[in-house]
Amino acid sequence: MATDAGDPLPRFPAGFLWGVSTSAHQIEGAAELRGPSVWDVFTAEPGRVKDGSTAAVACDHYHRYPEDVALLAGLGVNAYRFSVSWPRVASPGGLDFYDRLVDELCAAGVRPVPTLFHWDLPAHLDWLDRDTAARFADHVAAVAGRLGDRVTKWITLNEPAEHTLLGHALGAHAPGRRLLFDALPVAHHQLLAHGLAVRALRAAGARDIGIANSHGPTWPASADPDDVAAAGFYDTLLNRLFAEPVLLGGYPDGLGELMPGDVAADLRVIAEPLDWYGVNYYAPTRVGAPLGTRGEFGGVTIPAELPFSVREIEDRPLTDFGWPVVPEGLTELLCGFRDRYGDRLPPVVITENGCSYEGLDDQERIAYLDAHLRALHAALEAGVDVRGYFVWSLLDNFEWAEGYARRFGLVHVDFDTLERTPKASYRWFRDVLRAQG
Ligand code: BGC
Repeated sequence: MATDAGDPLPRFPAGFLWGVSTSAHQIEGAAELRGPSVWDVFTAEPGRVKDGSTAAVACDHYHRYPEDVALLAGLGVNAYRFSVSWPRVASPGGLDFYDRLVDELCAAGVRPVPTLFHWDLPAHLDWLDRDTAARFADHVAAVAGRLGDRVTKWITLNEPAEHTLLGHALGAHAPGRRLLFDALPVAHHQLLAHGLAVRALRAAGARDIGIANSHGPTWPASADPDDVAAAGFYDTLLNRLFAEPVLLGGYPDGLGELMPGDVAADLRVIAEPLDWYGVNYYAPTRVGAPLGTRGEFGGVTIPAELPFSVREIEDRPLTDFGWPVVPEGLTELLCGFRDRYGDRLPPVVITENGCSYEGLDDQERIAYLDAHLRALHAALEAGVDVRGYFVWSLLDNFEWAEGYARRFGLVHVDFDTLERTPKASYRWFRDVLRAQG
């Protein structure tokens, strides 16, 4: 296992983007927020979040952002991915906060990379309504109008796949719906919102636009044709459904017929050319034919009636969250995307990669990140055009339905005192960045 004293990492290309990622709802706290998001409503319902917590305070980044920007500067990253809370932007003075944050980042020499939606939908809106896509374009125009003089790199959406699947199909995340395949319009409307956002950003003069989609290889549980077919279906749902409308302008496997509205016209909006493509990678998924029973995956219940079952990946170390550690899955994923999409795939940025472990001397996190950076470099050597890598996350934070029980940060946060303490992985990543120059 690699430790702080492991072999030096291979060199990444000059101009490579090195960053860390966070999201508004997970770190900011609800101070001065006037309208709730679907997550505020969801966490207020008993039993939704495992430790019964809410993000009302979280890391109180809203007040402590100068300290957090100093941590970024100390780390030596050249970019910081954060998200802009839509309910905050809609609150009086909400954009002032992001104005201050962006100024602070620029003064520290850290490039701001905002994500315009990371799951905290204003509670009065609903992704089942087509109009939400148009409202999102208005939100994007307001943010770009205010920050566009200093922000040069933008992300439209974070993981519409998880927001659809966990939030609307399985009910494990806000808004807590269990619609199964009736959640498909939620995917379509988010993708439409993405395309409209690209247009709004271009109209505001933006030139460097991407999306952050979550992807991972899907491994069939066996060579049995039923397992292979189930894994192919899962791959379509998780990977192709969200990549192909954006990259190719079409839905895979006839899924477009299940989508609402004038799908052909919408796809022309969704396929607005991107400058780069963001990939959030955590682990592959092993999938087999349905077992006829309820399953459990990453703390989420998988209903028996789905046409696949998620199986354990054996013989791998697990993170505290129970996720398998499979660094070479990142090489496989990126090479697979390059082979599948060819020159339709723009340059790639890893917009999230990380793991949950307890403790300040987090050697497992160092080993995880070290191995994933080597796997990323292998993809570069295989000819994949990768331009950047962001660790999830800067701070321990509100990990959605898990509450504060899962710690993904390079920096430990004491949730009683809000004191920040850099972990061993923070110092390791700082040294990696220094060595990369
Ligand atoms: C999300 C983050 C989340 C992380 C770890 C990603 O799916 O974008 O918000 O904290 O994974 O679960």
